[in-house]
Amino acid sequence: MRRDIVHEGAKNLRYEIREIVTVAHQVRDLGQEITWENIGDPVQKGEAITPWIRDILHGLIDTPISFAYCDTAGVRETREFLAQHVNERPSGVQITADDIIFFNGIGDAVARVYGGLKREARVLGPSPAYSTHSSAEAAHSGYNHVTYQLDPGNGWLPDVDDIRKRVRYNDSIAGILLLSPDNPTGAVYPRELLEEIAQIAREFGLFIIADEIYAHIVYEGYPKLHMSQWIGDVPALTMRGISKEVPWPGARCGWLEVLNRNVDENFATYVNSLVAAKRLEVCSTTLPQMAIPRIYSDPRYAGHLERRASMFARRAQEAYEAFEGCDAVISNKPGGAFYYTIMFQDGVLNSHQSLPIDDPRIRARIEQLVEGVTPDKRFVYYLMGATGIVIVPLTGFQCDHEGFRFTLLETDDAKRAWVFRTLREAIDQYVGS
Ligand SMILES: Cc1ncc(COP(=O)(O)O)c(C=O)c1O
Repeated sequence: MRRDIVHEGAKNLRYEIREIVTVAHQVRDLGQEITWENIGDPVQKGEAITPWIRDILHGLIDTPISFAYCDTAGVRETREFLAQHVNERPSGVQITADDIIFFNGIGDAVARVYGGLKREARVLGPSPAYSTHSSAEAAHSGYNHVTYQLDPGNGWLPDVDDIRKRVRYNDSIAGILLLSPDNPTGAVYPRELLEEIAQIAREFGLFIIADEIYAHIVYEGYPKLHMSQWIGDVPALTMRGISKEVPWPGARCGWLEVLNRNVDENFATYVNSLVAAKRLEVCSTTLPQMAIPRIYSDPRYAGHLERRASMFARRAQEAYEAFEGCDAVISNKPGGAFYYTIMFQDGVLNSHQSLPIDDPRIRARIEQLVEGVTPDKRFVYYLMGATGIVIVPLTGFQCDHEGFRFTLLETDDAKRAWVFRTLREAIDQYVGS
């Protein structure tokens, strides 16, 4: 090319959760049966679509306007409905329909939110990090993502002192990102901690982004909070969606709730620029937006959410029991979402360990693949070759700790028990090999 046409941030566009699929396909082609434990798609893992939700969608198919474009920011009635929902929360920030902006999933919102920031303005995010955020933030800036530590010794809660230090000594930081419940750890943050983070933002003139896609999958005994209830007067963006809770990931439907928009003029101008950019692509998917008030206002929805949260809580307990007494790892039981993260203790992994793989062709392929990879990826590849289970290495989540993430989505009880048991046995065998 006469000019270099590759964006500075291109090298930062990494998504381990899906990149591992390419490798798994190669292993599958060599004859290994694959068990997908890498992607958070409940439908692909066999969760049945609730009949009354399907009925609502059938009704919308017969409603011609659901096939049309909608307003740039989204279907007006849905935005009014959602704003009212926010406003009904006890002691929360009040918003209007104009503070709700629809996107084609949070994935799309993430690209817009970081892409719309001035390049020098950085957003400090957690480590381990959900790659969609960390990659988009890094790609927008052209540098590595700036992170604060989630503490495996404290249930993966954010280290608030680390946040404060990083904000104080890096004046390019304009915002803080947090996820509660978190992906990949499943940690749910207590109110005091959230308020401390809001206080740091207030003190240093920052905005906050909270990804709340799992906000309606919180297990019994953990705080069920939305950002509007703890943010106070700090400018902020909440990211919400229906992919995980309805669940309907293929709808590609998510939205931003803008909180305290007019507290800061610069923030308000930035939010306006997001809507202006959205206008260029007309609007997001209409039909799923029209479904939201119908689903959320159905008297069966609260029970639906409760049932799913207790189902994942039970599965988290099963996984927790599978790793009990395993000295090689730190196993923190999640409080929400549907993932489980296992961290290897420091120094447990090395570059000589392996698992026995009977098929010589698969063994040869795995031996090739593990050349030069991180120690946890080496474990992940051997596990795939030996058992067919596909999980994601923790170092793929912008993280220095070694470990892996699997899901709690397997619907077949016997298969799920096999997955948890096999993971535990594989660790024991691998670290002793
Ligand atoms: C924390 C988090 N945010 C956003 C998404 C993607 O959401 P959407 O389907 O709305 O793009 C995911 C999907 O795994 C996620 O884990």
